This record gives sequence, structure tokens and C-alpha cells, in this order.
Amino acid sequence: MALPKLQIACDHNDLPSALADIKAVGDIVDILEVGTVLLLQVGDEAVKCFRALFPDKEIVADPKCADAGGTVAQNLKNAGADYMTCICSAAVATMKAAAKEIDQVQVELYGDWTYEQAQEWLDSGIDQAIYHQSRDALLAGGSWGEKDLNKVKKLVEMGFKVSVTGGLDVNTLDLFKGVDVYTFITGRGITQAEDPVKAANEFKAKIVELWS
Ligand code: 5RP
Repeated sequence: MALPKLQIACDHNDLPSALADIKAVGDIVDILEVGTVLLLQVGDEAVKCFRALFPDKEIVADPKCADAGGTVAQNLKNAGADYMTCICSAAVATMKAAAKEIDQVQVELYGDWTYEQAQEWLDSGIDQAIYHQSRDALLAGGSWGEKDLNKVKKLVEMGFKVSVTGGLDVNTLDLFKGVDVYTFITGRGITQAEDPVKAANEFKAKIVELWS
């Protein structure tokens, strides 16, 4: 089983603070994400700046695209993104249109979705899913547990590369020990830490401890 990758999600409200964080931790993490919040604030300028700073790094843009998949994907690809996200409620046609224009599409699992839909995504050649606990659900008292673990395991068994995200701290990773998670995506666990470099190194060390 490969080591899960570590992705930083930059959901900053402004570009300079996002750039400061990726300059600090960009060489520690495996993947850089222009998060939904940052994308809504400053648009594809953020993707262009991330690419200029890290020409060889994997970069994800997280528009949670619901429609016009081809156009959004083309624009993000031109700006320098390798991957983009589509929301799980988007039509399969939207996901396929996006997948034609950009290297990978990741389906963001929020709210209601079914394993039948998931099989349709796989059958359409889309094999990346992001298992997400919403920020707002966690703030309203939700937590990570067996119910999440079981869904992640089932998606992995189906053949998805599954990324896990939503309010992760280093200890949340224990829940997934032994599961073939593709990537752990963390935003505030790094960007709002007192010392983002230390936090990123702690996530990396925990992944090595649990998966090697
Ligand atoms: C919010 C997102 C975030 O990028 C993702 O949840 C990671 O951020 P955090 O670790 O701060 O929850 O997609 O929609």
C-alpha cells in the first residue's frame, strides 16, 4: 500500500496569506490546493500564482463545479491546475466534459449520494473521490467515526482513489490506519496552526508512522 499523500487546502480570504503559507510548506506537502474560498475570492489568479511558485508540483483547483464542466476545466487547466473538483450532484455529463479538458476530475462527496452514482462515475472513467465532512456540519457538532471509515473503505473497494478531508487534525488519521487512503487534505490544520511548518511536518510524520 502506498503512503497517502498530504495536500494543503488554501481556503484563505486573500491571496498574499495563501502564498505565504504555500511558500512555507510547499516543499513539505505533496499537493497544493487552491480552495473554494480562495477561488471565489480571487479567481484563477491564485492558480497562476501557485503554478509560478511551484512549476513541478501537483496543483488542485477546488471549484466544486456543478455545471459547464468543460469550460471551467479548460480555464483552470490554462491557469496551471492539474486536477479540479466537481460536486457529486453534478450531472455525469458535466464531470465527463471536465475530464476531457484537465488531467483528473475529483468528485466531492457532500450530502446525499449513492453507490449506484459512484459506480456510474467509475464507469465514466472518473476514479477519484473526495470523502468530505463539511466544515459547517463539523461546526454544528459532527465528528469523524466508524460511519465515515466504512464509506471510505467501500469506495476504496469499488476502485476509487479516495481523498479524505474536513477539519482533520493529526489524530483523525488514526481512524484510517491500514486503509488505502489516496490523500489526506488539510486546510486549517496547517494554515491556522501557530506554526504551519511544524503542523505540516507532524501530518507527514503521522502518515509515515501509520502507513509504513
Ligand atoms: C471546504 C474544503 C476544504 O478545502 C477542506 O475541507 C479542507 O479544509 P479544512 O481542513 O480547513 O476543513 O473543501 O469546502
